[in-house]
Amino acid sequence: MNLTIRPRRLRYGENLRKMVRETRVDASSLIYPIFIKEGTAITEEIPTMPGQYRYSVDTMGKKLEQLLDAGVQSVMFFGIPDQKDEAGSGAYDENGIVQKALRQAKKDFPDLYLITDVCMCEYTSHGHCGLLCGHEVDNDATLKLLAQTALSHVQAGADMVAPSDMMDGRVAAIRALLDQNGYINTPVMSYAVKYASAFYGPFRDAAGSAPAFGDRKSYQMDYHNSREGIKEALLDVQEGADIIMVKPAMSYLDMVAKIKDAVSVPVASYSVSGEYAMIKAAAQAGYIDEEKIVCETAASVFRAGCDIYLTYYAQEIARYMKEGKIG
Ligand code: PBG
Repeated sequence: MNLTIRPRRLRYGENLRKMVRETRVDASSLIYPIFIKEGTAITEEIPTMPGQYRYSVDTMGKKLEQLLDAGVQSVMFFGIPDQKDEAGSGAYDENGIVQKALRQAKKDFPDLYLITDVCMCEYTSHGHCGLLCGHEVDNDATLKLLAQTALSHVQAGADMVAPSDMMDGRVAAIRALLDQNGYINTPVMSYAVKYASAFYGPFRDAAGSAPAFGDRKSYQMDYHNSREGIKEALLDVQEGADIIMVKPAMSYLDMVAKIKDAVSVPVASYSVSGEYAMIKAAAQAGYIDEEKIVCETAASVFRAGCDIYLTYYAQEIARYMKEGKIG
């Protein structure tokens, strides 16, 4: 055969394959989501997420240390309060569970970058992401509480806040309140392109945050839509979002690629609980090779254009990077 162009030429040997690799990954892009619960001496495994745990403030340190040792320098805190009420007051209580965890983590691990999920669903008795008016979530009334939540996180030590509620105008409300209080340099990472997804199922078990009635479709996005995601992303950038997130990751990498073209801020994506649970379950059944699937999945997220990757596998991925299994 007289073939001048042979794509296989660049695939002979690991050295050459690495030289021409288009996607390079680094542990500084990884964020580990962690669940903190009221109480003491708690390290309880989440049944629908084997290998993931709920920690109390006094036990989380061990995990945070392991993450840092592995090379993961950022965590995202989720809180599981003892009590919930209609107004989700635990979310913005200065002695709320996330606020306590932040103060402790800041003191014990000054090198760790602390991010918080800003939402009401873990704190409301009805499990919705905002204040209710009848059976509807009241957008504008919720904004004040979200901003208050973000401010209380930052006052407790958060380095970055990440609103995940999908209310209209929440980035602007949070930015304004942080600025008024002098936190002009605290970035907002917006879950801007967040779909109403069944992939959040295991998380809702973990946090006890499933809505008591109805669903989240009046605020999270319809997964048939793509242009709407660009609209959400552009709007949040205008409101002052510093980073735009697409969530979930795996079934939404088309959106990562589009958002990367549409905005000039860094793009993040979150491999959510259901993605973790699927890989874990298939691996435990012996149907797939967990390590290889985790590397391939992570690389695909970066290849699609992500700068930042939130994943329950962060610690393992950091190790695989060191071992040269992904990179
Ligand atoms: C809070 C929030 C959720 C997740 C992140 N922030 C749950 C939801 O929207 O129902 C999901 C994370 C995961 O599934 O791992 N609103």
